[in-house]
Parts: sequence; structure tokens; C-alpha cells
Amino acid sequence: EPTKLWGGRFASGPAEAMAALSLSTHFDWCLAPYDIAGSRAHARVLHAADLLTDTELEQMLEGLDTLAADVESGRFQPVVDDEDVHTALERGLLERVGRELGGKLRAGRSRNDQVATQFRMWLRDATRRVVAGVLDIVEALNAQAQAHPEAVLPGRTHLQHAQPVLLAHHLLAHCQALLRDVQRFRDWDARTAFSPYGSGALAGSSLGLDPQAVAAELGFDGAVDNSIDGTSSRDFAAESAFDLAMLAVNLSRVAEEVVIWNTAEFGYITLDDAWATGSSIMPQKKNPDVAELARGKAGRLLGNLTGLLTTLKAQPLAYNRDLQEDKEPVFDSVQHLELLLPAMAGMLGTLTFDTERMARLAPAGFTLATDIAEWLVRQGVPFRVAHEASGECVRLAEAREVGLDELTDEELTSAHPALTPQVREVLTVSGSIASRNAHGGTAPERVAEQSRRVTAAVADH
Ligand code: ARG
Repeated sequence: EPTKLWGGRFASGPAEAMAALSLSTHFDWCLAPYDIAGSRAHARVLHAADLLTDTELEQMLEGLDTLAADVESGRFQPVVDDEDVHTALERGLLERVGRELGGKLRAGRSRNDQVATQFRMWLRDATRRVVAGVLDIVEALNAQAQAHPEAVLPGRTHLQHAQPVLLAHHLLAHCQALLRDVQRFRDWDARTAFSPYGSGALAGSSLGLDPQAVAAELGFDGAVDNSIDGTSSRDFAAESAFDLAMLAVNLSRVAEEVVIWNTAEFGYITLDDAWATGSSIMPQKKNPDVAELARGKAGRLLGNLTGLLTTLKAQPLAYNRDLQEDKEPVFDSVQHLELLLPAMAGMLGTLTFDTERMARLAPAGFTLATDIAEWLVRQGVPFRVAHEASGECVRLAEAREVGLDELTDEELTSAHPALTPQVREVLTVSGSIASRNAHGGTAPERVAEQSRRVTAAVADH
């Protein structure tokens, strides 16, 4: 006999298409361990309120333990009549402890407060796994930074050569963004750490059950203050979908650079064989598929975020069945990140850099022009004039197809009388980089400090 959580007032069972539409066990089964944990806590507060005897509590907890083991081993599975994970597990409990005792557990709770609680629990665990994966990527990038303390490359704006920077500084820029992603998950968790259990369908429980006790047992900081809000708000889910999408977008920016750096034209990096793919027709190909999938998945996660927000928009209080659509987008985002994060860490950690080529390209495109202007400023020339003079140097060098350091003494003074041959001291990549030594700059000692702070931040989590 199928276990229905409702039906007393119905003359017939649901139509087949109705039941098919309603069904959610194919995606909400992952909530099963949290549903059972909630049932254990709920049994204890029923007992504390004298609604279960000592023996009944003991039998109930034993039944829930067996059920949990059977769920874990796969011996207990949902069937089509089960509608959702909560219904399936109720059937499982009744099968184990009998309909008489099993039927007592439903007092004072609803699937509305159950699912809201379990979704929070699932997400809090999932984001911890995601954070661990992100920290592995930060470590991989930081290790590359530390392995290449002197490597340089042309820093870019608008994808054009701008100013030379340390490779380590560039890699650590990505670490900073990823560490903020980690921080966002922490902030989010502090807001999400409140349990809706005990909110009932929407109005709260009348049976003298203690929501704070349930919350504590389930690892929350407390119970929600409002049962209507507890059962119907999903901003915690939308916010996590944003945090996950933001992370994916940040990863897509690292990924895009891997794709570009791996081209013959850039030639900055070589991918390790284990983290690249070949072509079925072109034998010479070594493709950056990990990076391309990272770019692609960012689009997918953005879709999940906008889809979820659209589902939530304009829903009246309190619970509406629309909310059953809240879980899949977030589950999907987590699932795809869990595939992506270790692959990104592996790919980034095993990149080989052609530091000689990068060093050769670092001064190309007149990336030291700003250094001429700033050198003149140090001689007391107003920056507006210095900028003009440096631009004149670029014009002269471009016309003769030489580097700025190859301009003659005469050419330099023709650009500005204060431009003596001493300016050549800053016309080297290392001189330029060393001069940017204010906090946050690309000078080697600053970058080394930064890298140590990143190491400390990773160790802190
Ligand atoms: N499966 C539903 C969900 O995911 C919870 C069940 C609530 N159903 C209801 N008719 N009140 O939101």
C-alpha cells in the first residue's frame, strides 16, 4: 500500500500526469540524509514535549538508524508513488517501525519546513566542499607564483601591451578574486545558519516543540524568527547561486587567459598532457579543453542563477509549489563546480611557462613609455609635459623600428631637454618593475609579501 502524506479528503488518487508532474525524487533524493537527521531531532523534541514515551523514542531512533543505513547502502530506494524524498522516507520509516509508531513523527512538522531546512543543510555542506576546491586552485596559482619569483610578462589593458609586470603578480591577482569568493561563501553561511524546522506549514507549531533544540542538533546557530519567512524564503538559495556563478565567472577569466596564452601567437605556456586533449583529425593539436569547459560552465551557472531568481520573483507568501523548482539549478551549479574545480587546480598547477619568451615580449610595444614620463616627473617636469615628451620618444622609436632603450642621446634630448641618457636606468623591464614598490605594486618584494599573505589566508580556512 503506497504511503501518501495526504488523501483523507480525496475520493480518488492523483491522475497519472498529475503524479508525474509532481514527482521530485529523481533530484531531491540527495536530501535523504538531512531528512533523516531532521527526523531524529524532531523525535527528540516530540519526546521532550511528552508526545513520545522513552520506549517510543528509542524505537523511533533505531528505525531511523536502520533507514539511514539502508538509504546509504542503496537497499532503500524511492518508488514512483513516493512523490518526494520526504514521502519516500516516511514510507521507509513506517515499514521499519510500524504504521502506529511511525505515524507519530509527522506531528508538528510539514514538508514545507522540512524541505526549507534540508535545502539549507545540503547547501551549507556543499559550499564547504566548493570552498575546499577553490582553495586548492588558489594554492596551485600561489605555488606557480612562488616557483617563478622573477618571471615577467607584458601586463595588458584592453588586451594591448601596457606595462611590464611580474608573472607572480598577475597570477596572484586571480588568487585575490578567488579568496573573495571564499569569503562570500563564509558570509553567506552566517546568514543561512538558521533553521526553519518547527515552522510547520507556515504558522508555527502548537505542540510545545522547541525549534531551537532542533536547530542546535542540526548544526544551525539558531531557529528562524518567523515561520512564514522560514518556509517560503529562498534568498539563501539565490544568494548561493550568485556566489557560485561569481566563482565560475572568476574561473572563466583565468581560463580565458590559459586559452590565449596557449596559442602559438602568445606561446607563454605549455599544458601538461594529462590536462589537455587531442583532436580526432588533426594529429598536431593539443587543446585547452579544461579552460574552455570552465568558460562554458560559467554561462551555465549564470543561467541557473537567473532561472532561480525568475522562479522566486513575485511569489506571494507563504509556501507555493513553485518552490519545488528551487533546488535543481543550485544542485546543478554545485555539481558542475565539483567537476571543474579539481580539473582547474590540476591544469593550473602543471602549466609550464616559457619565461624567456615572456621576458622578450615584456618590453615590446613600448611598455616602458610610462617609465620615461615618471622619470621626467622625478626631474621636476609636470606630468602633462612629460607624457607628451614620452609620446614623442615612442613616435621616434616606432619610426626607426627600435626599442625605447635604443634611442640616441640626441633623440632623447630632442623629445625634452631634461631627457638625459640617465633615463636609460628605468628603460629596463626589471628597473620598471622594481620601481613600482608601493603597497599592492608589482615590485618583487611587494609581490613576495602578497604571496605570503595568500598562503596565510589559505591556511586560515
Ligand atoms: N517537494 C516539495 C518541495 O520541494 C516539498 C513538498 C511540499 N509540498 C506541498 N504540497 N506543500 O518544495
